[in-house]
Order: sequence, then C-alpha cells, then structure tokens
Amino acid sequence: MESFDLIVIGAGPGGYVCAFRASQLGLKVALIDKRSTLGGTCLNVGCIPSKALLHSSEHLVFARQHAAEHGIKLGSVDFDLAALMKRKDAVVNKLVGGVTQLAKGRKVMVFTGAAAFTSATTVSVTPLSGTAVEIAGKNIVIATGSVPVELPFLKFDGDTVVSSDDAIAFKEVPRRLVVVGGGVIGLELGSVWSRLGSEVTVVEFLPKIIATFDDDVVRSFTRILQKQGLKIEVGAKVTGFSKGVLTAERDGKPLEFPADKVLVAVGRRPFTDQLGLDKASVVLDEKKRVKVDARLRTSVPNIWAIGDVIAGPMLAHKAEEDGVAVAEWIAGKAGHINWDLVPGVVYTAPEVASVGLGEDAAKAQGLSIRIGKFNLAANGRAIAAGTTDGFVKIIADSKTDRILGAQILGANAGELISEIVTHMEYGGSAEDLGRTIHAHPTMSEALKEAGLAVSKSAIHAL
Ligand code: NAI
Repeated sequence: MESFDLIVIGAGPGGYVCAFRASQLGLKVALIDKRSTLGGTCLNVGCIPSKALLHSSEHLVFARQHAAEHGIKLGSVDFDLAALMKRKDAVVNKLVGGVTQLAKGRKVMVFTGAAAFTSATTVSVTPLSGTAVEIAGKNIVIATGSVPVELPFLKFDGDTVVSSDDAIAFKEVPRRLVVVGGGVIGLELGSVWSRLGSEVTVVEFLPKIIATFDDDVVRSFTRILQKQGLKIEVGAKVTGFSKGVLTAERDGKPLEFPADKVLVAVGRRPFTDQLGLDKASVVLDEKKRVKVDARLRTSVPNIWAIGDVIAGPMLAHKAEEDGVAVAEWIAGKAGHINWDLVPGVVYTAPEVASVGLGEDAAKAQGLSIRIGKFNLAANGRAIAAGTTDGFVKIIADSKTDRILGAQILGANAGELISEIVTHMEYGGSAEDLGRTIHAHPTMSEALKEAGLAVSKSAIHAL
C-alpha cells in the first residue's frame, strides 16, 4: 500500500490549497476527488461558473439598458444562450486545467474516485469504473465540502425543481423562475436569469433577504433588485409544488407562485456521506458537521477537517485559509487564521459586501459604536461610471475609533471590502482609513469618506 505524509480528501479550494501548501513544505501528498476535474464545487459548479454567467448577463443589461446613455448605438441586441454557456464552460475548463497543471508541477499525486476511511490511517479510493485502491496517510484532511440542502416537500428532480448545480446550465431561459431562498445563491442566480429574460420571484422565509446584512443595507438592496425586475416575497413559508405552482403561506394566508422552474437555494449541508467516518472514529457535532478543535483537528489526532464540512461560513476563501493553516500545522509550522475577518460578498449588481461586525449586530451586543456612512451618489468616479447606487458604512468603536466592521452596497463592493479587511487586520481606526491617501477618482474614495464620516468630517458630504 502506498504511503503518504498527507492525504487530502476533496479537491475544492480548501483541499487543493491544503495539498499544494503541504507539498511546498516538503510533504508527500495525495489529493483525492470523486470528480474527474479538480476545483470542487467552487470551480466546477459554484463560484466560478456563476461569476461567468453574472458577467455575461451584466454585459447584456449594459448593452440593452445603458449603452445608449453613453451615446453608444447598438441597434437591437440579442443573445445566444448556448454561446453564453459555452463561454462559461471554457472559463471553468481553463481554471480546473490550471489547478491540474499546478498539482502536477507540485508533485501532488491525484486520485480520482470516492474516498472512504478504512481506518484512522488508511483510505480506499473507488473510481467510477475500475478497482478500488487503498492508500495510507500519516495525516488525513477531510475537505469534502457541502451539498445543497433539499427540502423534504420540494425534492430535486434535476429538471423542474433544481439546485444551483442545474441552474447554472439551463438549456433555455425559463419563462417563470421561482427561487426558494433569498440568500447568496438565490439572488446571484436569480439575477442571472432575470437579466436573461425570466420572470423571477424570490420566496424567502425570513422577514428580509440576505439576513446576515444590516437592515439599511438590505432595504436599499431590496429596492434596487425590485427595480431590476425581481419580485421579492419575504416572510413566506413554502409548503409545496405541484402542477407548476409553488405554494406558500404568509401569516396563515395561502400564496401561489406559478413556475416553470423552481431553484431551491436554502443553504448547503456538510457532505460526509459514505465517507466511512465511523471506521476512523471521527465524531460529528450536533449539526452533523465534522467536530474540530481550535486547530481544526478532529476527535482523532491525525485527522483534520477544513472548509464547508466544519462550523463557520461556507466560503471558498475561508476554506483556503483553513487549508493553508492545517498544512502548516501538520508540517510543524505556525499556521494562522483570523476567522473574525472573513469577508462575505454577494456578486449581484450592485454587489454587497461585509466584514467584521455589522451595525445591527454591534448594537445587539450592546457595544458603543459610531457609524460613518458615505453615499456613492457623491463619489465622482461612481457618477462618471454610472454606478451611484449604494453606500459604504464603517462601524467603529466609539472610544478607541477602531474599525469593527464594514458593509458596502455598490459596484465592486467585493473588491473594495478587501481594503477594510486589511485595515482591520492591522487594527486600523476609522481615522487611519480617513487619512490614508486614495487615488482620485476611484470608488475607493468612498471608503476614505466613510472613515472620515465616523468623526463627522467627510469632505464631500454634509
Ligand atoms: P444562504 O444561507 O445564503 O441562504 C439561504 C436562504 O434561504 C436564507 O435567506 C434562508 O432564510 C432561506 N430559507 C431557508 N429555508 C427556507 C425555506 N424553507 N423557504 C424559504 N426560504 C428559506 O444559502 P445559499 O444561498 O443556498 O448558499 C449556500 C452557501 O453557499 C452559503 O453558505 C453561501 O455563503 C455559499 N455561497 C456563497 C457565495 C458567495 O460568497 N458569493 C455564492 C454562492 C454560495
């Protein structure tokens, strides 16, 4: 049986990054995935293909609705869904191919097949066809990610009731798409299909969409999405789907939403099915996530777990950091992760991004805070670009002025938020942010102004 210093099960952003870092540190590494391509959900059916579709559909909206404002005459504008999907597939192929090349270059041995523990130090890999092999590892990392949650009364059928895996590859634009769940996936893919012509209704159980964001951000964001044509139904409890109608109720009153397709996006669950965790005595927590300690070690000392399969936000960049730290800990180095500063981004138009504590959460914790807000409508670059929807909000400690968090609603919010992450990593204050020189004219000046607004000294707002 071939033996490795480290076996990583799952080749998503958590797993492959962990494998690569471990090989950089001189370990002999095996990387196993049941998909024939590396990159996991994120590269194959998640983050990357959805972004390709979001970009393509945004270009379409620009061509149809905004080009004329810029004096660009395009005549009639149409699109070819098959070509759009082909581009998305090419984007995915380029990236997964790149990861394969990197794995080769780093001498990480890749196994394709379903992995299952046979003991705490051995794993079997069963390919789709052919015979299983067994390999041994001094250390094993579980990076098996997550799968969409299925509602018992709304089971996926791969055709009408679908998960995001299918909703990135519809062959036709559905006339009426009902999205169950006003979270990240629902709003990103809902936006894509709405831009391509579907009548989209988002049905959310809670009183607001993207419920982890502050109320003022969600209020503005909801209005913008509604202006774009999305119908948003909050506080609605879905009860079933039959004969092309999704049924729900609000305050005891029945609701009906006719649908050609139903995208169920109500969250994801850790994926540990058929992994043979019992053979290795790995313990799950009460939410069926792999239980780990502060160093991501499971109940078995040589077995570790990272990414979506453990507690914490189910985000690719968080999984990557988990992976790097675990590789470093296994190699005897000082791995480090700051789980308090994981940015979250919704890639709609405009984008929504946050890091650290929101205003509502800070108030709920009874913290004494000051808020600095700056509207993009007063930012020169936003006006020039025609992207004035939204604002930047900085939440700072009222005594120390230390930045506790930020929320941004606006174009490129996902890029802009990283500046705040960096400030926060270095313990920066709102004044630090306000006194940092920002290139003019850029959207990032809105961050500086919001930093200044914390002490009521924004220059371009009263
Ligand atoms: P989510 O947790 O973001 O949103 C699910 C939404 O569904 C919530 O608003 C929830 O209240 C609602 N919901 C739950 N049960 C419901 C029901 N029975 N009826 C109606 N609404 C219901 O989960 P989502 O969007 O499925 O995404 C899954 C994971 O993938 C998340 O952890 C997310 O962070 C991650 N992801 C991240 C992306 C990004 O960073 N841009 C993109 C896509 C996914």
